[in-house]
Amino acid sequence: MFHPFKIESYLTEHEKNVTYNYSESGVHPLKLGDFLELAGKDLNELANIEMDYPNVRGKIELREKIAALYPGAKIGNILTTIGASEANYLTAETLLKPGDEMIALQPAYLQLPGNALNNNITLRTVELIEDQNWALNTEQLMATVNSSTKIISIINPHNPTGHILEQAEMDAIIQAAESVGAWIVADEVYAGTERGDTKPTRSFWGQYDRVIAINSMSKAYGMPGLRIGWIVAPEELIPEFQLRHEYTTISSTMLGNELANIALDPEVRPKLTQRARELINFGFDTLTEMLSAHGDIYKVVPPQASAMCIVRYDLPIDSLAFVDRLVHEKSTLVVPGSCFGLDHHFRCSSALPETYLREGLNNINELVSEIKG
Ligand SMILES: Cc1ncc(COP(=O)(O)O)c(C=O)c1O
Repeated sequence: MFHPFKIESYLTEHEKNVTYNYSESGVHPLKLGDFLELAGKDLNELANIEMDYPNVRGKIELREKIAALYPGAKIGNILTTIGASEANYLTAETLLKPGDEMIALQPAYLQLPGNALNNNITLRTVELIEDQNWALNTEQLMATVNSSTKIISIINPHNPTGHILEQAEMDAIIQAAESVGAWIVADEVYAGTERGDTKPTRSFWGQYDRVIAINSMSKAYGMPGLRIGWIVAPEELIPEFQLRHEYTTISSTMLGNELANIALDPEVRPKLTQRARELINFGFDTLTEMLSAHGDIYKVVPPQASAMCIVRYDLPIDSLAFVDRLVHEKSTLVVPGSCFGLDHHFRCSSALPETYLREGLNNINELVSEIKG
């Protein structure tokens, strides 16, 4: 049985047909012109880019810049992919064999776990506890891991809650993985989206031998349309990923490689993450203020990172019906909690321009008033 990617299917149906789209999870995407200005580049400099396939593993300079972001990583540890999406797909295809099990977080963005299900892998979940600021249930993790566990799938910072794992939680995950020789696949696409004065998220890379770290240009850098992501893995695994990559996409795009290479330049990257932090901080403050209009209805655990948060609402309407009404009556889209197995919640992004953010949040408040009667 094929398991569709519920959240993406829901977004595909609606995201281009609404006036206010708060279903995105990254910071507001950059325009090419604004990016080049921020990077101090002229559009004409792009004219010489040859529209050829790049190196199948990714442009060498780009992979060098990516490797420099991970302690001890070298170019041989990196494969550039079409977004973190392809990275997650290749990871499932490469590592999982019949009889393997995967542990995933609940709730979670189910990209790697969904691929596992589609490979007939048994999926076990470990909860993040809302009442404890979405802390990981480490006892449950220790009780769930077993000799068939091939992958522990982690998203850190986490989608949809914005939780960043404490070092003690990371240590517990490493201990659980080590006890059975499992891989930790750490999807770290929200690294760099920390809110307030939260310190940068530590990668799992370098903390345990069997780690695969995944990231992309889509979230903190505001460039989801570049479709550039990457895998950081032990060197001997990269050819295995490459063999599958040659079937799925052959390579990422030349233009994407060139622009990502500019974006990850040590002079440019901090400007992008600074932009992300400003949008995230301001956006979440605006969202908090707007939601206070119905303080009796909404409850939000402030996210430590990411451009979004998960909002719990106390109304007698399930999340799919709530969001369907929002789409059809207010042309406003958020993600129904049911896409994450969390009813009476919705995920809302807020790292967006102020007017756009306030107008749509106002629509959400209006619908809540109408349902309250
Ligand atoms: C945790 C997580 N991983 C991967 C992706 C896919 O990202 P990309 O645009 O890099 O393919 C997303 C997108 O929402 C995500 O939230």
